[in-house]
Amino acid sequence: MKKEILDLQIAEATSPWEGFVLLKAEPTEGALPECRPGQFAQLRTGGALLRRPISIHNVEEGGRRVWFLVQAVGRGTRWFQTLKAGDCLNAVMPLGNGFGMPGSGDRVLLVGGGVGVAPLLFQGQRLRERGIPFAFLLGARSADLLLQLEEFRRVGEVFVATEDGSAGECGLVTQHSAFAAPYTLVQTCGPTPMMRAVARLAHEQGMRCEVSLENRMACGVGACLCCVTEDRTGHNRCVCTDGPVFGAEELNWD
Ligand SMILES: Cc1cc2nc3c(=O)[nH]c(=O)nc-3n(C[C@H](O)[C@H](O)[C@H](O)COP(=O)(O)OP(=O)(O)OC[C@H]3O[C@@H](n4cnc5c(N)ncnc54)[C@H](O)[C@@H]3O)c2cc1C
Ligand code: FES
Repeated sequence: MKKEILDLQIAEATSPWEGFVLLKAEPTEGALPECRPGQFAQLRTGGALLRRPISIHNVEEGGRRVWFLVQAVGRGTRWFQTLKAGDCLNAVMPLGNGFGMPGSGDRVLLVGGGVGVAPLLFQGQRLRERGIPFAFLLGARSADLLLQLEEFRRVGEVFVATEDGSAGECGLVTQHSAFAAPYTLVQTCGPTPMMRAVARLAHEQGMRCEVSLENRMACGVGACLCCVTEDRTGHNRCVCTDGPVFGAEELNWD
């Protein structure tokens, strides 16, 4: 899949949750490159020197418009909050490997926490198109922090876990009853402790598991090695080029 540097024009910029921005953008010329769920873009930001890696949240039908869901946590991501319709956003995309496409015998549970839910909407969309049974399991501290719930519900069945019990089942995603159902594959993105716990539970229950890592990145193309993570054999793996999606059993979780 060929990566491109392209100018995107913001079609919509909204802030449906405090501290988050949802951007919908289209290329100023031509079409979007083909993108796979779990891949990301390196977005130029006026707030920082280096581009910031942001997951492809969705590609609308027809492949013309791409969505990004951004949590403003620092200089780079806060700048995205200043964007408005008509502004230009420069992107290098698509980067990374993306989630595997399950087989026809699979039943998939897509587990997300926090802004880590972003790449799962696109993956759910693809699974639905291919007729592969799946459900989302989304976790948050409280109901008001469940991001894009209505969008997820438009795509498929959604289970919810909140730590304070204000929506769905009370507790962590790993305590949710969805894990008792006979899924064959779990694909997950979110905070590392959540993914570690999800990977352990999936292993115990005999489900395959893929995790999407969000290590800090600089170049995004395998040149600077600042994103590396150690695998089970003690080798360093570049999250930006070998990942961000890995089989959970490939990684050293200690
Ligand atoms: C493959 C990939 C996909 C991502 N997708 C998304 C996405 O869809 N939406 C989104 O909002 N964010 C996403 N991120 C995280 C995002 O890239 C970082 O939040 C961003 O780079 C922070 O830049 P900043 O300049 O705002 O913050 P900085 O000023 O650089 O840092 C602010 C604070 O955030 C912490 N921080 C910075 N980067 C990360 C990180 N990668 N993980 C955890 N903490 C971090 C810093 O330690 C610091 O405390 C993704 C990261 C990767 C690697
Ligand atoms: S970010 Fe530079 S090698 Fe991965």
